Amino acid sequence: MKLELQGITKRFGALVANDHIDLVVEPGEIHCLLGENGAGKSTLMNVLYGLYQADEGSILLDDEVQHFSGPGDAMAAGIGMVHQHFMLIPVFTVAENVMLGHEQTKAGGLLDLAAARAKVREISGRFGFDVDPDALVGDLPVGVQQRVEIIKALSRDAQVLVFDEPTAVLTPQETDELMAIMRQLKQSGTAIVFITHKLREVREVADRITVVRLGKVVGEASPTASNPELAAMMVGRSVSLTVEKTPAKPGDAALVVRDLSVIDAQNQYVVSHVDFEVRAGEILAIAGVQGNGQTELTEALLGLQARTEGSITLDGVEIAGATPRRILDAGVGFVPEDRGEDGLVGEFTIAENLMLDRSNGAPFVRGGAVQRGALDAFAEEKVREFDIRAQGITTPVGRLSGGNQQKVVLARELSRELRLFVAAQPTRGVDVGSIEFIHKRIVATRDAGVPIIVVSTELDEVVALADRIAVMYRGGIVGIVPADTPRDVLGLMMAGENPTGAAA
Ligand SMILES: Nc1ncnc2c1ncn2[C@@H]1O[C@H](COP(=O)(O)OP(=O)(O)OP(=O)(O)O)[C@@H](O)[C@H]1O
Ligand SMILES: [Mg+2]
Repeated sequence: MKLELQGITKRFGALVANDHIDLVVEPGEIHCLLGENGAGKSTLMNVLYGLYQADEGSILLDDEVQHFSGPGDAMAAGIGMVHQHFMLIPVFTVAENVMLGHEQTKAGGLLDLAAARAKVREISGRFGFDVDPDALVGDLPVGVQQRVEIIKALSRDAQVLVFDEPTAVLTPQETDELMAIMRQLKQSGTAIVFITHKLREVREVADRITVVRLGKVVGEASPTASNPELAAMMVGRSVSLTVEKTPAKPGDAALVVRDLSVIDAQNQYVVSHVDFEVRAGEILAIAGVQGNGQTELTEALLGLQARTEGSITLDGVEIAGATPRRILDAGVGFVPEDRGEDGLVGEFTIAENLMLDRSNGAPFVRGGAVQRGALDAFAEEKVREFDIRAQGITTPVGRLSGGNQQKVVLARELSRELRLFVAAQPTRGVDVGSIEFIHKRIVATRDAGVPIIVVSTELDEVVALADRIAVMYRGGIVGIVPADTPRDVLGLMMAGENPTGAAA
């Protein structure tokens, strides 16, 4: 089915999120939407999916004008959307999730589970998905959950499929598998819209590329364009895609972790007897395939894991077992992996979110009262400095685009007096221009003498930032190696081997 958007305009108050956008996606085409954080990509797709009503313009499918008053209408017309934050219910099985929302009911109003199961098997078989219809969704790895989302869309005969940043949460292998699935869907005639900030992915699968900036289409790019060309077109200036940094001048070991383990609710060691040190003025990057204990390790450092063993000292003071509050107050900055869950309060304004962990004292709170003037001035400055695209500092953070939410977390955490900075996936969902800025800020923080831990599943990011690299596998540290370690060696270490013989 051919999709055509004509002159789509969507306003939020005075803000024009989409400004007369034209877009054509042919059947059997993978069309990439590229653009800065806040450019209006998700908004446009939400209009297409019936979540928002356009103020102007039309949606055409096979040249027929459509009117969607909600996602139900869009789905019925053959549009499917795979959201970045999955809409699945974890305690339901795959088949139950696929069935949800379908009006497919048996006489008597009972939902037809058998039909849903058969459908899951049929689509799984067609695309080689290997998804068990009776598995509980909550037990599945993220990449497989995403396939369930795709099955759900295909079970409604979606002929136009939208993927809004589907790879942000995937491992490199899962990403490759998703690319293969998109190619297969394309072969079967599906029209695909693919949104991503990773230029490598764009160049790998795109048939056509449309670039949007500030709500407007600025042009089409060729799939053979180089990364710097694509980046420049997106942000309207040239972008440095490598981090310029001088060699670290590390001081004393500031963070010392000894024999640290984390035990989960099932009594499993999810972090198992790890030892490492981070010196002042040094970036230790933790690499690894997602799910090998990195999340639990960073949470243990912040006092967010219930059961830990071992010792964590910061500047000689034991912090293992301390409350998160005390650890934050000791000067530990933290960027959590899931900003929505742990880093921000969506209903609070940008300004309020910027003072979240400093609400117990000066300069923003005095005698129990928020110092509006001080807070507003600070917020204005941070919005400028971190290029947070929003209507103003009183905009609720939940209304910001994904990448701009991430910038709010970074702005807050990097603006404190720091004795340790722990960042998990610091640039997840952030556009190339802002990645450049954030990387520079992290390096500047290092050069100011702060010990830094960066956890990233992006090898590019690890290699760009690290002074040393610790590779995690199944809860343990396989080895700690220099930043210039070849990527194939890092790859082997991520699979649990240690060809360098580096000590953990
Ligand atoms: N419900 C809403 N209310 C008010 N403003 C909104 C709403 N949804 C989006 N916006 C604004 O519209 C603009 C476009 O946001 P959108 O989420 O479409 O950006 P995006 O291109 O998807 O960015 P990202 O790459 O960060 O995901 C932003 O300025 C955003 O703050
Ligand atoms: Mg978006």
